[in-house]
Amino acid sequence: MTEQKSTNVHWHDGEVNREDRTQLLGQKGVTLWFTGLSGSGKSTIAVALEKTLYQHGKLTYRLDGDNIRLGINKNLGFSAQDRSENIRRIGEIAKLFVDAGVIVLASFISPYTVDRDRVRQLHGDAGCDFVEVFVDCSLDQAEIRDPKGLYKKARAGEIKNFTGIDDPYEVPPHPEIHLRSDQMSVEQEVDVIINYLREHAFIAAS
Ligand code: ADX
Repeated sequence: MTEQKSTNVHWHDGEVNREDRTQLLGQKGVTLWFTGLSGSGKSTIAVALEKTLYQHGKLTYRLDGDNIRLGINKNLGFSAQDRSENIRRIGEIAKLFVDAGVIVLASFISPYTVDRDRVRQLHGDAGCDFVEVFVDCSLDQAEIRDPKGLYKKARAGEIKNFTGIDDPYEVPPHPEIHLRSDQMSVEQEVDVIINYLREHAFIAAS
């Protein structure tokens, strides 16, 4: 657990609450948490899903590993401790967006089960919805794709602690959605998620 350093601080409620924002937007906020190996397709699926949801008139926001590491988390690297702090901060940010009524598409390798579960817990404690989407792709396939050429560098020893090569990836035991991205098309994957959102009333069934 992260230590609460500041003292004498108290939560201050406003006069417009999450329920009001849900009514205003006509959608229920939720975090869709995409986890999987680098090159598994997390960001590609999130980008396609974002477009589809936009076309359905739904407000989304994408939080993406590389982008977040260029900004708020630029001071973090890839040690287990830094990855943990990366995920903790993003979890807090995602929760705020959900409270705002937004559908959050969060794509992070998030290799440790304990860190992902902490984000789930954080959401649960705040009454916010969290859906874990496991973007399951074999290491072989991710390495063949190697969109950023990073596996090649990791194999050559030019990048240390690379997930799947010399750093672990813990497979989620109970994801709400399991996509086999080495066997499905992006369109099929988007359909699966849209159907899930409808079935669970995050967006209207039509
Ligand atoms: S996480 O492990 O902390 O969740 P995150 O998703 O933010 O990782 O960032 C992963 C991205 O950083 C990868 O897609 C890749 O582009 C880049 N990267 C650079 N070094 C590493 C590394 N050692 N392990 C994994 N990804 C790395």
